Parts: sequence; C-alpha cells; structure tokens
Amino acid sequence: MKQKYGAFTALQPTDLEVRAGEFLTLLGPSGSGKTTLLNLTAGYLEPTEGRIFIGDRDVTHLPARRRNIGMVFQNYALFPHMTVAENVAYGLKVRSVARNQILARVQACLALVQMEEYSKRPIQQLSGGQQQRVALARALVIEPDVLLMDEPLGALDKQLRRSVQLELRRLHQEHRRTTIYVTHDQEEALVLSDRVAVMSQGVMQQLGSASEIYNAPRNAFVAGFIGESNLIPAVIKRLVGEEAEIEVPAFKRTLTVTAAPSLSPGTEAQLLLRPEHLIVTHDGEGVSAEIVEVIYLGELTAYTLKLEGGQTIAARQITDRVYSLNSRVRVTWKPGTARAVPIT
Ligand SMILES: Nc1ncnc2c1ncn2[C@@H]1O[C@H](COP(=O)(O)OP(=O)(O)OP(=O)(O)O)[C@@H](O)[C@H]1O
Ligand SMILES: [Mg+2]
Repeated sequence: MKQKYGAFTALQPTDLEVRAGEFLTLLGPSGSGKTTLLNLTAGYLEPTEGRIFIGDRDVTHLPARRRNIGMVFQNYALFPHMTVAENVAYGLKVRSVARNQILARVQACLALVQMEEYSKRPIQQLSGGQQQRVALARALVIEPDVLLMDEPLGALDKQLRRSVQLELRRLHQEHRRTTIYVTHDQEEALVLSDRVAVMSQGVMQQLGSASEIYNAPRNAFVAGFIGESNLIPAVIKRLVGEEAEIEVPAFKRTLTVTAAPSLSPGTEAQLLLRPEHLIVTHDGEGVSAEIVEVIYLGELTAYTLKLEGGQTIAARQITDRVYSLNSRVRVTWKPGTARAVPIT
C-alpha cells in the first residue's frame, strides 16, 4: 500500500505481510510513517494505492469498526466519566453482546491485565500504567483478529514502561494474538517482537528478526538505528560473492569484509563495526589509535578511540585490563564482524 497526504507521500509503496500469531513492531524515528501504516491497517485511513487483507478478507474499504481490530493509543483514549469496567465493556455493548456475557468477558480481560480489583474505579483515579492496562483490556475484550498498538507506553516513566513491556510479552506468549506494535524505542522493539520493521522516511528499510537486523543490517540507517555502531566512510572496490573489498581512508588500508546486499563497485559506502566487536591491544597489526575517553562500566570498559585521520570510534571491552587515557593502541575486530553497508 501507499499513502499520500495531499502531494506529500507519507508512506512509499510498501508490502508488508504479518504472520498469524506474530508480534511485529514498526520501529522508526518521528515522521517515518509508523502511525500512517497502522492507521491504514486499522481503517482510520484509506490507502491512496494498494490493498489490505486480514487473513483472506479484503478490508481495504471496510470501516474501522467492521475490521475486528483492537487498537491501543499512546494517550489511552479512555472515557474519563466511566469506570474501569464500563470502559472495557463499551466495545461489547456497541456490538450488542448479551449482558451476562459482557460481565464475564470484562472480568476475564481485567484479570488478564491484572486489574480485576479496580473494575469499579473511575478512570481519573488510576495511574498512567493502570490506565494503559485498562486500554489494553478494552482492546482485547472484543477478541480482535489483530491487535494494533501505537506507542502505548509513550506516556509512562521508564520503570513502569519496563513492567508493562514484560506484561505485554507474557500476554503475547500465552495468547499469540497477531499484533502490530509501534515504537521509536529500539530496546522496546527488541524485548517484545518476533520481527521488527525498521521505517525511515516512509520506507520500510528492513524487516527481520531482532538478531537479523542487528547482525545483518541492510544499510547505514538500520545499522545506526539499532544498537551502537561505528560507521566509517569507505569505497567499494570489488564485490565477490558475499564479500566486499573496500578501501577505508581512515584506516589507510584495504579490507575484505562481509557485504550487505545492493552495494555496487566504485560507490561510497560505510564500514560498520559494532563497539563490542572491536579488540584493543597495545601492539600488533591493528589500526593505530589514541584513547581519548575511558568509562569504567564494571564488567565492561567503554573507550572512545581517535583514529589518525581524526574520526573517533567507540569500543567496549571486557575489563581484564584497562588502557589509560591518551595511550596509543592498536584496534582490530573479531573475524567476520566487519560489514560494508550502503549509505542509505
Ligand atoms: N493528516 C496528515 N496530513 C498531512 N501530513 C501528515 C498527516 N499525518 C501525518 N502526516 C505526515 O506524514 C509523515 C508520517 O507521519 P506518521 O504520523 O505516520 O509518522 P510516525 O512515524 O508515526 O511519527 P511519530 O513517531 O512522530 O508518531 C510525517 O511527515 C507527517 O508530518
Ligand atoms: Mg506516530
């Protein structure tokens, strides 16, 4: 599908197939098109081009209320004048479910999010985390085919975020309801998801498991967005199978590294080196650098290293020996971890 707002294309043509029962996260910076993609799925927007299916059902032209989708928003969107139970019951009432069934299903869903003791409380007397649990119960109570969540934990503080994350993970592992989740927090995406779709500028840059995206990013944007990375300018000399021969001016040498797809000889690219893959030694074959920052982290020590050309890179080492500030060192990396990626 594709989405334009006037002349502006918020979502470039995108094919996305979510597997039944999976937890898929749309991850990307502000303005990358995550909400647009979610709202197209929910039916709050009609695509400028393309079609949307839920199972075999073509829902492209169905209104949101007929798609059997549960939606959780960032700002909860609860009814403030109703109690917890009334909020959760709402979706069933408008679907004319029988009263005794409503009671049972509301209680069951409140139990699921560990809020059954709060059913008679007015919404205004709940904390943010509790409100978000109610919003989740309200989305689940209609037994949706797909659960959609748009930055549902955005308003919570870090600790609460973490506990609701674990709760969402537990719920998904127990019930395996197909879920599309939106966040711009990479850690949250990694904790929750079976697969992650990394979005930028209306383009789905990469779709894969957390480890695929971390270990085999398709381009510099994905590499930079997930985890810590050093990206060092390079030029592609030659491509042979899965490997690239690259020239790295900052290292004053030519290297053979793993090649991301869609590189071409003669073009500029980036060398990706993760901080934890770098090996710092006092002497040997490595690239020469100076230690300009040392941060002791307990088991690990984080270094900032200045290369001869002036660029700095980050390294993390097990704290078995500590190199002191301003000392000259040599840097290498674990075999197979260096990767050439296209600039975007
Ligand atoms: N109704 C609209 N009219 C015009 N432009 C819009 C509209 N809604 C969104 N956009 C634009 O489309 C782009 C994608 O917006 P979208 O809301 O999908 O981003 P997002 O990834 O959800 O960002 P955030 O993390 O900030 O919520 C943005 O550039 C935004 O300004
Ligand atoms: Mg958004």
